[in-house]
Amino acid sequence: MFVKVEKDYEAMSRRGAEIVAEVVRQKPNAVLGLATGSTPEGLYKCLIEIVRREKLDFSHVTTFNLDEYEGLPAGHPQSYHAFMWEHLFEGLGLREEQTNLLSGIASDLATECVEYEERIRHAGGIDIQVLGIGGDGHIAFCEPGSSLAGRTSVVALHPQTISDNARFFATEEEVPRRALSMGIGTISEARACLILAKGEGKAHPWAGMIEGPVSSQCPASALQLHPWTIAISDTAAASKLKNVEYYLHVDRERADQPILPAWIVRPALDPRRQAERSINATA
Ligand code: PGA
Repeated sequence: MFVKVEKDYEAMSRRGAEIVAEVVRQKPNAVLGLATGSTPEGLYKCLIEIVRREKLDFSHVTTFNLDEYEGLPAGHPQSYHAFMWEHLFEGLGLREEQTNLLSGIASDLATECVEYEERIRHAGGIDIQVLGIGGDGHIAFCEPGSSLAGRTSVVALHPQTISDNARFFATEEEVPRRALSMGIGTISEARACLILAKGEGKAHPWAGMIEGPVSSQCPASALQLHPWTIAISDTAAASKLKNVEYYLHVDRERADQPILPAWIVRPALDPRRQAERSINATA
């Protein structure tokens, strides 16, 4: 895991946006995995600025979002569909057919989840997955106790998540109790992951993700097993890391190294796919 600490939210967002922009520079038909929440808003704003400044072409990009509340139609102001159009898609000038989000009002939610996985596979897999972390260590809506190999499914929200997200709704009762969410197994298949955290409230789960044991009690810790995760936070979220000096040292020493894995543009080099191939060959 590449752990990076920036002085504030602005700097963290700029650095994250630069990484996503670089994926699209290297691979114009990239598949981007996207997240909602207050954390990635700054990244999205910076990304729109970069795209406008450089006239970076996003017309061949495909996007997949991590999750959506059950029961909220795309037009609901608190739906993740609405969030994405407001904070990113509109600004990038994306066409609706370039974007993929789970439908929280599908008549058969289980089928919706299975078909979403199919859509990701059909698009060639996710090149980079943007993530935030919950106060309880969740990623997407994979709450503590989730299978670290889980696939996209209908999940129950943790009371902590319901109360964290109540700030976006008129009352806590209005927060949906369930959601559709990619699983940790789905997320782990992204060729690269980019996870962000801001503020002291994330310091505990952030330390658990980076330095704690790999445990379903801190689902984000599964990223320790991912071959290319970039973790960027502000100083407040990094405040409980024991080895922060070493991470800063590594960041300086690697300054001339590529920020993205070669297998984003050359999937044949992907270590996990090589491992799958050798398992299949021995079977
Ligand atoms: P936040 O949420 O970005 O609003 O803090 C992150 C998350 O719950 O995944």
